[in-house]
Amino acid sequence: MTQPTLAVIGAGIIGRTLARRWTEAGYRVTFGVRSPDDADLTAYANRIGAGRDTINGAIAAADVVLLAINGAAMDQAVPAMSAAIENKIVIDATNNTGGATMNSIALISEHAPAARIYRAFNSLGWENFADADYQGVNGDMLYAGPAGPGQETVEELIGATGLRPVRVGDATKAGIVDDFVKLWFTLAFEQGLGRGVGFKILTRDI
Ligand SMILES: NC(=O)c1ccc[n+]([C@@H]2O[C@H](COP(=O)([O-])OP(=O)(O)OC[C@H]3O[C@@H](n4cnc5c(N)ncnc54)[C@H](OP(=O)(O)O)[C@@H]3O)[C@@H](O)[C@H]2O)c1
Repeated sequence: MTQPTLAVIGAGIIGRTLARRWTEAGYRVTFGVRSPDDADLTAYANRIGAGRDTINGAIAAADVVLLAINGAAMDQAVPAMSAAIENKIVIDATNNTGGATMNSIALISEHAPAARIYRAFNSLGWENFADADYQGVNGDMLYAGPAGPGQETVEELIGATGLRPVRVGDATKAGIVDDFVKLWFTLAFEQGLGRGVGFKILTRDI
């Protein structure tokens, strides 16, 4: 794929941080939100060189769709965007902390069976996407989703944040990625390591 165009659905802290990293890396990014004329969002989007549109308007113009809204809102939001995300690369970064599963992969694939769905950008706090340097070591991001078309794009988008993509497997492995969210919360807040905690997968020849 030539450089993909991106729709960032949700302009909270995670959507804004990733949109900024991606415009800095040269991607064309459009926020898809319920209030595209919001003054604060307008100022932010202008500052980072991103566009603004309705949710389905942003999706229609994009190759890749990042879902970065509240996890509990996915039940309502996904059916409303189902036709628009069909056949797109869709990245679920949402965490439904009160739901049966953290991710919404089953919901998305039920409503858009032809979408290529990835689980990524959910297992670390936003600060780790803003700055992926851990005292001289670049952090890793675990992700899950189909091999083949879409994979390279998702890996490039992870790489644009400075993190190294580590594929756990296809979408059936999304729960393993979600286990890292739970680990991240536990280490950051219960064990006091703070929001700058990240992950590194080590390998060697044996
Ligand atoms: N914060 C992090 O460090 C982090 C890291 C990884 C993953 N995540 C996940 O990413 C998601 C967003 O987190 P956040 O911290 O960026 O949240 P946030 O700052 O509260 O922003 C949430 C965004 O979701 C939008 N939204 C809420 N309900 C919606 C609906 N029904 N339809 C369309 N848009 C809706 C809000 O839009 P309005 O302005 O229109 O209400 C807002 O732009 C969550 O699922 C979170 O678990 C967060």
